[in-house]
Amino acid sequence: MKNTHPPPAWLKDAVFYQIYPQSFYDTNGDGIGDLPGIIAKLDYIQSLGVTALWLNPIFTSPFGDAGYDISDFYQVAPRYGTNRDLQRLCAEAHRRGMRVCLDLVAGHSSNQHPWFLASAKPEKNKYSDWYVWTDSAWTSETGAVRGCSERDGGYLPNFFCFQPALNYGHAKPDPKKKWQLPVTHPAVQAVRRELKNIMKFWLDLGADGFRVDMASSLVRGDADGAGLRELWRFYRQWLDRDYPEAVLISEWSNPRRAIGSGFDIDFMIHFNEPAYYKLLGTAWEAGGGVATQVFFDRQGRGDVAEFLSSYLRNFRATRGRGYISLPTGNHDFPRHSRGRAERDLRVIYAMLFTMPGVPFIYYGDEIGMKYLENLTSKEGSYQNRTGTRTPMQWDSARNAGFSTAPPAKLYLPVDGRAAAPTVARQERDPQSLLNLTRRLLVLRRRHPALGNTGDFRPVYAKKKSYPLVYERRLNGARCWVAVNPTNRPLQVTLPAVAGAEKLEALDADLTKRGTKTTLTMKPVSFGIWSVAGTRGSAH
Ligand code: GLC
Ligand code: CA
Repeated sequence: MKNTHPPPAWLKDAVFYQIYPQSFYDTNGDGIGDLPGIIAKLDYIQSLGVTALWLNPIFTSPFGDAGYDISDFYQVAPRYGTNRDLQRLCAEAHRRGMRVCLDLVAGHSSNQHPWFLASAKPEKNKYSDWYVWTDSAWTSETGAVRGCSERDGGYLPNFFCFQPALNYGHAKPDPKKKWQLPVTHPAVQAVRRELKNIMKFWLDLGADGFRVDMASSLVRGDADGAGLRELWRFYRQWLDRDYPEAVLISEWSNPRRAIGSGFDIDFMIHFNEPAYYKLLGTAWEAGGGVATQVFFDRQGRGDVAEFLSSYLRNFRATRGRGYISLPTGNHDFPRHSRGRAERDLRVIYAMLFTMPGVPFIYYGDEIGMKYLENLTSKEGSYQNRTGTRTPMQWDSARNAGFSTAPPAKLYLPVDGRAAAPTVARQERDPQSLLNLTRRLLVLRRRHPALGNTGDFRPVYAKKKSYPLVYERRLNGARCWVAVNPTNRPLQVTLPAVAGAEKLEALDADLTKRGTKTTLTMKPVSFGIWSVAGTRGSAH
């Protein structure tokens, strides 16, 4: 499985910042973040060491699913601004050497989209086959939504009921089900072309690429993935020719498949490959506490071997052809701060920011924003998503500086606790999480072995045991990273090194005694060293 091209060179040292636009910064006092707000904060974002943005959907939408239900793919939603504002945001980012990636909701539209409204009509028209319709309102076995249209049939939703799936065809249509169209069907081909037009439109306006929503959902009945591979490679080849710098990032959580299909980056997150879950959990089932049996657990109940086997398999299969991202968080699962102390986050970030691949920081994670408990659903966020989407905490002004609107008008409530972290307070404290984040990203840049393209190898990683120590290496330069998420002090013997220079640490030490290296770690600690001349650890 060869990718058609190496990923664009700018990804070699890219660091992304994910912005949930409604909650980032409100410049016109309506209680909702906007594009001018992102422009206003670009210098701050850049000060983190970030080189690129990913914005959650900013397009016209009835906002049943926070904008993942688009009713006009070519228009910025008025609440965020105009297409001109987006153009300005891209230009301002580019002026700073930063890139802007948009969210491409490829698999579905809103049921309010004119294409779908036309498609739902009983009369045959241009859009009749743009969505996946069964041929009878009585066909129930498919999961189709029935009885919602004058058209006799049911449509397949891609996610929520109001998100009908766009028709990318069936890889192997069932001959008995005439409504399953082959991928070669003219309507399916028209949908494909339309998606290309959408990408072209935003690339021409200044965007640098896309995070593709539910990237593996497009072709149906595609067990071996051949249909998806063909589809994404079609886009990738076109981009390679016309927009070689443009990147495709997938929400797939299966790097081998995603990168083999032409994506440059795949998120390893909370579904499919269990790696991310085994590492960090997502605090879903624990209802406020950290899930058990994840590696980053003070009780030490996790097993790093479970993370590593899945991670290494994917890493080896994709190295040099694309990147894996282990994000600090995203808009779909509780922040890792839930049920954890700030110190735990320091250890987590020490690892996430020294792993291969492209780091992604979810807005607010750099200051350790909390998951806000007990909020009701907002725009389809439901449980486990709402508390992750609250306004960014900038300073001690009204609404934490997010907006001048009366608090009742805010998109979601602000974390109003006195101890709630803010950017302003953490800016002043050299030891803050914000400044640790910055230092870790500086290290990543100064020591390319720690960066996106360096190799990765466990040095100390025992089944059901702590700590985890790994080596990053590039062109002969080596770094070691050790993390102890548990509340126990630990001491282990590591292979000998000729020298070790501490780059950043929290209560961890590496000492040389004869031919042995001893790693001593206090509870909840980490260390990062540049090492020289390791013996007894043949590569
Ligand atoms: C993705 C998005 C999520 C959205 C869903 C449907 O998983 O990240 O927020 O609800 O797709 O578009
Ligand atoms: Ca606003």
